[in-house]
Amino acid sequence: MATLADASLSFTRVPHPAPASAEVRAQVLANPGFGTKFSDHMVSIEWSEDKGWHKAEILPYGPIALDPAASVLHYAQEIFEGLKAYRLADGGIALFRPHANAARFNASARRLAMPEIPEELFVEAVRQLVLTDNEWFPTVEGGSLYLRPFMFATEAFLGVRPAKSYRFLVIASPAGNYFKSGSPAVSIWVSDYTRAAPGGTGAAKCGGNYAASLVPTAEAFARGHDQVLFLDAAQHMWVEELGGMNLFFVHADGSLITPALTGTILPGITRESLIMLAREEGLTVKEGRYSLDQWREDAASGQLLETFACGTAAVVTPVGKVADHNGEFVIGTGGPGQLTQKLRQRLVAIQRGDEADTHGWVTRI
Ligand code: COI
Repeated sequence: MATLADASLSFTRVPHPAPASAEVRAQVLANPGFGTKFSDHMVSIEWSEDKGWHKAEILPYGPIALDPAASVLHYAQEIFEGLKAYRLADGGIALFRPHANAARFNASARRLAMPEIPEELFVEAVRQLVLTDNEWFPTVEGGSLYLRPFMFATEAFLGVRPAKSYRFLVIASPAGNYFKSGSPAVSIWVSDYTRAAPGGTGAAKCGGNYAASLVPTAEAFARGHDQVLFLDAAQHMWVEELGGMNLFFVHADGSLITPALTGTILPGITRESLIMLAREEGLTVKEGRYSLDQWREDAASGQLLETFACGTAAVVTPVGKVADHNGEFVIGTGGPGQLTQKLRQRLVAIQRGDEADTHGWVTRI
């Protein structure tokens, strides 16, 4: 649906009339947490059937007006992405694989019957916001500027069909650790609920998938765990993914398994990057099926050395403990394993420009 001309939109700039003071900003940047603080501006681009992509603007961050009949509020036609900008050692700024996020955004758009956005326009929107709010990089170790591009249906219409108008926004949030505890290894609860079924929207990054994970996640929290794990819908035996992260299993024979992209799993960009890095480390990486029973058995026998979760927000996070109604089991020492740490270090070093970017993943802006 997008045309080439759309990619060359120029952005109108409306500076924030009262940006955060240097003092307030410094406080936020010294203790950013995750996802609760936002920079001074946001990018907005509109789409309509007659005009395509138009009205590209950099606006003061703030509430938006929406018709109460806007179809996103009724039928959840909404998709989003998550990516990070990093302040490099030489003072420059880089995005990690923004074109991969743009491509995945468009795959989600196709699944949700929404218009695609030209990849260059997506990346340019993100770039414009980061450059505008370049004073919003956290000062804490491991901090980054988390970017959240998203799109939703704005047409005021209660019939069930794809909307005829949409809005694309990008907001920026200084980010530290995703997990509140900052714990060295997370504990996960195996949910009785299902996240995604074959033929459903599991591979799309749409808000609805995350809404459906909230009750299972609350249950995991109530039981004292950090995250929820979903098994497959049909047999409830194959490991799929966590609430917002992909999983990897490190075996003693030097092999690594991660659940294959069967259509019910989110195709993580961090997941894909780690597969490549692990192969470079000489590991055999298998994208396949891994059952909860096998996981428990391998952890007990020592065949399984490590398990880690990964995602843009979570980066690479070790999994220490797994629990379901049958009890719990510990993985390895229950703390971060060697390979988990090595892969995390390499990924972070590439993202921050401390290791040569031989893959073309880092886009300086
Ligand atoms: C991300 O890792 O960027 C995500 O979108 C996951 C979300 C649960 C924070």
